[in-house]
Amino acid sequence: MKLGVCYYPEHWSRNDWGDDARSMRELGLSLVRIGEFAWSRIEPFPGQFDWEWLDQALAHLHQEGLQVIMGTPTATPPKWLVDRHPDILPVDEFGHPRRFGSRRHYCFSSQTYRAETKRIVEAIARRYGEHPAIVMWQTDNEFGHHGSDESFSEDAIAAFRKWLEQRYQTIEALNAAWGTVFWSQEYNAFEEVDPPAHCVTEPHPAHRLDWRRFCSDQMCGYNQLQVDIIRRLSPGREVTHNFIGDFYRLDHRNISRSLDVATWDSYPIGLLSESNASDEGKARWLRSGDPDFAAFNHDVFRACAPKWGVMEQQPGPVNWATYNPAPAPGMVRLWTWEAFAHGAEFVSYFRWRQLPFAQEQMHAGLLSADRKAQNAVPEIQRFCDERKRVPAIEASRPDVAILIDYSSLWHHEIQPHGNLDGPLSPARALYSACRRKGWNIDFIFPDSDMSGYKLILVPSVRIIAESTAEKLLSSGAVLLAFALSGSRTESAQTAFGSQRSVLAAAAGVQIDEFESLPPFSDVNLSYDGNTFPIGPWREQLVASGGVHARFSDGAPAWVKQDNVNYVGCLPDRALLSVILDEVADEAGITRFDVGDDFRIRRAGDVHFAFNYGSRPIDLSAVLTDMTSIEWIIGEETIPPFDISVWRKL
Ligand code: GAL
Repeated sequence: MKLGVCYYPEHWSRNDWGDDARSMRELGLSLVRIGEFAWSRIEPFPGQFDWEWLDQALAHLHQEGLQVIMGTPTATPPKWLVDRHPDILPVDEFGHPRRFGSRRHYCFSSQTYRAETKRIVEAIARRYGEHPAIVMWQTDNEFGHHGSDESFSEDAIAAFRKWLEQRYQTIEALNAAWGTVFWSQEYNAFEEVDPPAHCVTEPHPAHRLDWRRFCSDQMCGYNQLQVDIIRRLSPGREVTHNFIGDFYRLDHRNISRSLDVATWDSYPIGLLSESNASDEGKARWLRSGDPDFAAFNHDVFRACAPKWGVMEQQPGPVNWATYNPAPAPGMVRLWTWEAFAHGAEFVSYFRWRQLPFAQEQMHAGLLSADRKAQNAVPEIQRFCDERKRVPAIEASRPDVAILIDYSSLWHHEIQPHGNLDGPLSPARALYSACRRKGWNIDFIFPDSDMSGYKLILVPSVRIIAESTAEKLLSSGAVLLAFALSGSRTESAQTAFGSQRSVLAAAAGVQIDEFESLPPFSDVNLSYDGNTFPIGPWREQLVASGGVHARFSDGAPAWVKQDNVNYVGCLPDRALLSVILDEVADEAGITRFDVGDDFRIRRAGDVHFAFNYGSRPIDLSAVLTDMTSIEWIIGEETIPPFDISVWRKL
């Protein structure tokens, strides 16, 4: 795994470039990402390109043997371009243009912007396509960030209508698929359909679901436009995009089809602060981030493309969260090792030097603005020394997989039917529960190969096509599906055919009624002599047999038939844990209870153990088999915010 850094030569005096490049190399970095916001310096006036500075900056990096990831600058169209073509601006749902003065101020559907994108990407790729320092291209920067996935411009509306026409062919088919007869929402022509915005009350869910699909597809199409140019003009170089962690508005699997490498931007502390975690969790991991945040996203993006990496790694306090604490000493090294253990191609820190001006001047860098090494630097040095002792990661298929589907996440956002904590929360809760058992996990998508797993988990994936259900059911794995899984059709209608859920049907269950419940509800679940709270959703299951646990009012809660388990609620942590124990035993999977702060990841014989907490952890108290091992890093007691690595002999 290589290390890299995000660098903005245009922010600094050219007298610094040589020293910066040398210091990067000396620190052990070998990759540098540049260029992604530099349009106003590359083309200061319409059609007038200034390559000289970028040639020089690249020459300095190349001279030090650093490899470059070149970003296309399309996330920041310059002022002259916006003034010439105001139609490139994104439009909010109230019809107001979102203006120049920050970034991401363009509409993915703007025909003008697509032409301008083609022009600038061609110019850069023609200039540097064969440059010996450039090994990879990054398209744009964080598609969809700052709410930029949606635009309600004239071009977007026209494109949405065209997209609908391609999907449904006739307006009658759209009316039937959506169910527009409700509230007299029927259309006579595609030209009548507007985006689902600014309605008096809740817009139609099928309309919203197709809007989400359309917005995601527009980002994919826009990315493809850039990828095609880069592939033509820069043969042999890889192409990536840097995705946002915990972001679900873009179908990452779909967009990654055109990429060689899926990368993402990892800000564990910043995103914990902004998440819906409890105050207790926020306090506990204030300086380390949620122990599953980075791993969850590593595993999601690992599943998206043949290779993956971390394009931006938090190095210190960020500037954009409600509060911005510094990472505990050791965390930058720990996060780097977690990425390594998951098989990342590279980790690149954001950013090289802290800026003394503009929006991000309060965001840490590896160096201060006046080039003093910050806390992350000795941790990176230590990683570089330690890395020599650890063998390369061997990829192998784990026992456990979790299904993800973007349309289902969007449906969850559109019709939560209760306070369900956000679309990713069922998958995230399950993922954390699995990590607390000490397991490696794969994410799978409906089109993934599902063979070879012992246990497949379906965390309230609402839309499950028949072909996906068949793959799941014939995978040979033990299946465990939670409430709402398979409960909706592609068009957001209730799946009546198979007893309201294709997976419930496979477990021999009929779902009669459902309800969402507040945390203070009186319904519990009894299992094995214990009573558990059930979370915010419960279904009334009717089953002729196979009842494994019941709700407190006696109705079936967990039903099992052959290898299919269906649980009619969204269990909280304690209940999830006992359910997982039982299905793991059934599937023949070894399980541990590693607790809250400790996480483990296996790669062949090599075991990586992480302590995200502020107290030491004694490994032999948690893992059963600590005999016949060879220590590679650390030892049996892992200090706070530290790691141990060993090989099983
Ligand atoms: C990312 C973005 C970077 C920078 C960073 C700050 O979302 O891609 O350009 O703004 O956040 O944490």
